[in-house]
Amino acid sequence: MNLRRLLTACRTAPRGGLVAFALCFAMVGAAFAAAFAVSPAPVQAQNGAPGGSLRAHQGVASCAGSTCHGRSVASGTPVRQDELLRWQEDSSPSGAHSRAWRVIGEARGQSIIRRMGLDASGVQRECAGCHASPGAARQADGVDCEACHGAAGSWISTHYAVGTSHRRNVSQGMTDLVDARVRAGVCLDCHLSGDGKGQFIAHRIMAAGHPRISFELDLFSTLQAHHDEDADYVQRKGGRTNSVRMWAVGQAEAVKRSLELFSQPGKANEGIFPEFTFYDCHSCHRRIVDGEEAVVTALPNPGRPIPAGMPPFNDENMIMLFAAAKVMAPDLAATFDGRTKAFHRAMMGSRAETVASAQALRQTADALSSRMAGASFGREQTFAIMDTIASEAISDRFTDYEGSVQSVMAIDTLLNGLVNGGMVSGSAASGLRVQINEAYRAVKEPNAYQPLAFRRALGGAIRSIRSLR
Ligand code: HEC
Ligand code: HEC
Ligand code: HEC
Ligand code: HEC
Repeated sequence: MNLRRLLTACRTAPRGGLVAFALCFAMVGAAFAAAFAVSPAPVQAQNGAPGGSLRAHQGVASCAGSTCHGRSVASGTPVRQDELLRWQEDSSPSGAHSRAWRVIGEARGQSIIRRMGLDASGVQRECAGCHASPGAARQADGVDCEACHGAAGSWISTHYAVGTSHRRNVSQGMTDLVDARVRAGVCLDCHLSGDGKGQFIAHRIMAAGHPRISFELDLFSTLQAHHDEDADYVQRKGGRTNSVRMWAVGQAEAVKRSLELFSQPGKANEGIFPEFTFYDCHSCHRRIVDGEEAVVTALPNPGRPIPAGMPPFNDENMIMLFAAAKVMAPDLAATFDGRTKAFHRAMMGSRAETVASAQALRQTADALSSRMAGASFGREQTFAIMDTIASEAISDRFTDYEGSVQSVMAIDTLLNGLVNGGMVSGSAASGLRVQINEAYRAVKEPNAYQPLAFRRALGGAIRSIRSLR
């Protein structure tokens, strides 16, 4: 879990503050000497390329011109124009996507492939959908610009024209990443799983040594950001990112996504077994002590009305969304909670019953997603959500490592949201870092995870955050 190490080092100051990034880069000793993986080619040369259909994927080289996104310093207006360099920056998470294909060929990637017994077509089938860009001619470029911004054939030649606008670009086919729901959909394809070819992280892949994938939309957006939310951005995009909204919509969309995938018979099962990727990993992967001094480590979880010994569905995003709903949509919160429990309970019955419950729950998650997307999250609401996450009603549900990781990421994001919105001063927030890092430490080592110790650490962080209120 290199992520959490990076987090504590890099997310110490408000987003949007250049200082934050400068500090962060200095800390990891960024060397801006990354060799160009692609040779910058002028956009013009690509535009007229024969056979290039309007919807087609153009490739990184088309974005990389020195007068386009390939500058070596962030001297451009209105955008930085050094996006390519940041996408390639190997020493920071902002460079993760450019190396996504390369890691397949490195030791860890190869050992996963060996254990799974995959040949080249197996790698295409199982890995390429997330470690390269669907539709790209060059997989070596990993997850490229168009994997997120959309295939550029229809807009590459016009998106920088004088007088254009984000709305016009979107109408020509550029993906609207400013819209939290759209952005969540793009990221979740690879950071949860998707319907595309090679976009499903089955338990088999985990069991062969793949890192677990945890995701939080706002936090991960910050970690990979290659843009500044300056005055000009605010004008062009209609405002700065609201971190709290991004977080809440991210939770709702993740609940929807996992239920959608689970409802597909082809994905829900592996041979005669259920597909374990949907369940709480630690429910199966604990030690067993059944001697004289028998120890049962499972804690009661009021959110999951299921008998002991049954693998619980991974409900990390459901817990977070419930916390957000209690504050932002109290009228839907009880329905969401009831349906979450009904879904867990249905697993004791039949598959048909479970899928029907999944669909009902998905519907409520969808209603919550639109509610969150339209909500404005002020100081009071943000504090109230943090309080709710640590409250007894919710924290009793942190019996699982994944759910606990989500709650720490949430506190981090919500606090960041307050700082970004100018509702809490940066210096007050950095005093709280110590406490938040304590909570991160409690989830650093999955095998040492102790639910009760974790709740204490989280409670400590929340208490000091409350003091800012
Ligand atoms: C559903 C999308 C998905 C699929 C399918 C997938 N991966 Fe990954 N992989 C990821 C994500 C996301 C990460 C980053 C996890 C993190 O750090 O949050 C990752 C990380 C990795 C890493 C660690 C990279 C590093 O920098 O340490 C390796 C190696 C890897 N994957 C190999 C594979 C191989 C081999 C396959 C096919 C058998 C595969 N992956 C299939 C999404 C996927
Ligand atoms: C993992 C997804 C992802 C990848 C890969 C990616 N971007 Fe982005 N990019 C984003 C997100 C999210 C934003 C912020 C939302 C926005 O303003 O559109 C953004 C913002 C930008 C902006 C600023 C837009 C503005 O209006 O200020 C530019 C320019 C940009 N990206 C160019 C690129 C280029 C060039 C590449 C490839 C070298 C690239 N991006 C790769 C997700 C991505
Ligand atoms: C086409 C698949 C794909 C899409 C779409 C995608 N990612 Fe990724 N992302 C990956 C893979 C694969 C990795 C791991 C690469 C590695 O570590 O080598 C990764 C890594 C990351 C990392 C670094 C994590 C770490 O542990 O260092 C961040 C941050 C990230 N992605 C954010 C995002 C965000 C935000 C979006 C949506 C705007 C997004 N990604 C969209 C595939 C994708
Ligand atoms: C329903 C039970 C169950 C769940 C839930 C489950 N696993 Fe497993 N896992 C297994 C079994 C069974 C094996 C195979 C053990 C063997 O080969 O001896 C296994 C093997 C593994 C291995 C290889 C361990 C080894 O020593 O070879 C890893 C890693 C792993 N799982 C990760 C995960 C992750 C990550 C999750 C959550 C996304 C998860 N598992 C969820 C039952 C489960």
